[in-house]
Amino acid sequence: MERMDIHSWSQPDRVRVRHLDLDLDVRFEQRILTGSATLHLDRFSGDELVLDTRDLEIRSVENAVSFEFGPADRVLGAPLRIHLRPDAVWVRIHYSTSPRASGLQWLDPPQTAGKRYPFLYTQSQAIHARSWIPLQDTPGVRLTFRADIRVPDGLRAVMGAGMADGHFQMDQPVPSYLIALAAGDLAFRELGPRSGVYAEPEVIDAAASEFADTEAMIRAVEELYGPYRWDRYDLLVLPPSFPFGGMENPRLTFATPTILAGDKSLVSLVAHELAHSWSGNLVSNATWGDFWLNEGFTVYVERRVIETIYGREREEMEAVLGRRELDREMASLKESDRVLHLDLTGRDPDDGCTLVPYEKGALLLRTMEQAVGRERFDAFLRSYFDYFAFRSITTADFLEYLRRELPNPVPVEEWIFQPGIPAGAAEPRSEAFAKVESGWPADTSAWSTQEWLHFLRSQNPPDMPRLDREFHFSESGNAEILHEWLLMAVKAGYAPVYPKIEIFLCSVGRRKFLKPIYTELMKTEEGRERARRIYAKARPTYHPIAQSTIDGIVG
Ligand code: BES
Ligand code: ZN
Repeated sequence: MERMDIHSWSQPDRVRVRHLDLDLDVRFEQRILTGSATLHLDRFSGDELVLDTRDLEIRSVENAVSFEFGPADRVLGAPLRIHLRPDAVWVRIHYSTSPRASGLQWLDPPQTAGKRYPFLYTQSQAIHARSWIPLQDTPGVRLTFRADIRVPDGLRAVMGAGMADGHFQMDQPVPSYLIALAAGDLAFRELGPRSGVYAEPEVIDAAASEFADTEAMIRAVEELYGPYRWDRYDLLVLPPSFPFGGMENPRLTFATPTILAGDKSLVSLVAHELAHSWSGNLVSNATWGDFWLNEGFTVYVERRVIETIYGREREEMEAVLGRRELDREMASLKESDRVLHLDLTGRDPDDGCTLVPYEKGALLLRTMEQAVGRERFDAFLRSYFDYFAFRSITTADFLEYLRRELPNPVPVEEWIFQPGIPAGAAEPRSEAFAKVESGWPADTSAWSTQEWLHFLRSQNPPDMPRLDREFHFSESGNAEILHEWLLMAVKAGYAPVYPKIEIFLCSVGRRKFLKPIYTELMKTEEGRERARRIYAKARPTYHPIAQSTIDGIVG
């Protein structure tokens, strides 16, 4: 399928990369990857191969007539134009990355749990693969790959890929944003017959017990939407500076350690990243404007998994929390960002990442399910995943398929192209939450994380000293609850919690937690001063993606 992707310089309708052979040394002292990328090509017209790059140093290009960089764009990076020999079906690019590559985070030993070894990991989504591999960095192009990665003694490299005779290998074609690598002091623990978890040795026990339901989750999705097609499903727990909750790298989900709550209460993130094995990795958005096809479908599937494994009540609570957060965020977005199909012209796709594609997208699917009944909707989704398997599709492709297979269940055009939530939307409800809202609680001993979050969000205005005295939220070992409490403290100007806020901002790099706290701090003179002082200290420990977000807030 030929697509226009405004976030890539490449012209895959002329020459298309179909396979990559990667050969890289990981050099911690210099903070660079260095080696070569061999690109195997399908040629349709012309002698020019255009690749995406950002801050790459190209030494030479083998089997080509010549190469040159075009001018670098602030968002897109620089096109690398390679003049091909008339019949060439491969080129080999010898290159190194920059120490400031946007898709890499190099951690010094103090930033790890073990404090003894350095750590490296990649984050390619949305358009950061180009900062560590020269390629056609658009989700509309899928490629297979093989990789040899050399790391210093004592460290282990892992990739979102299988292994074949000593090489990393991915035989199913994937978009570039799903290529992933990490290296560090990693232990491994089996979780089930086809799943396991990698983490630093200090974290591996906690990770293995938190993720014990992984095989049950895989089975739950298979039951609904057909077989898991990626062979193994492993997880990698990263150090706390990982800027996201999770990343659905194929066969190897990357996850933040902040979901290790000790009681499985935050594992909807695992359900989410696993669900991407169908919605996102099997059927991928062809452009970043179609991101809701990845995330909206995935949140819907995630909630179905939660319902299957943890019951209807937990699912309802999570759906209500999501619905409320969507309203809270939408209130601050301009109309053009309240639609599902986003116009990202001139913007970095990282900036288009709000709850709208996630929660409005999931709500659309929930509304369709309600309209046609669960049985019909399940059959529809299952056939959708089969029909588009291993392809990248646009919103228009989805609409065409929907019109054919499930005509007129809901005003879907309004959902996709108009701002806000259309009339007739499903309304998730939770009886447990109704009780939480009914006054100061008498007995909270059996409350779940979800009830605590809802309780905190319902306090208006909050009696901070009383909440602190009775519930000691500053001591919470649950990162979601702690974050909610710290945010409330900033809003309320509740000074006893300030030291805790500083510790939190200096030890966690998850952007979803950082962004609201810094934003809130910046609203007062005193807060601004504190934000600047803390950020000066914390910034070097944040991932480039988080740095760029917080730079935009703190300045
Ligand atoms: N694919 C996303 C993460 C992502 C999105 C990275 C856009 C870069 C650009 C991942 O599946 C995701 O959605 N993660 C969420 C957690 C999820 C439970 C909602 C996150 O990181 O917060
Ligand atoms: Zn996701």
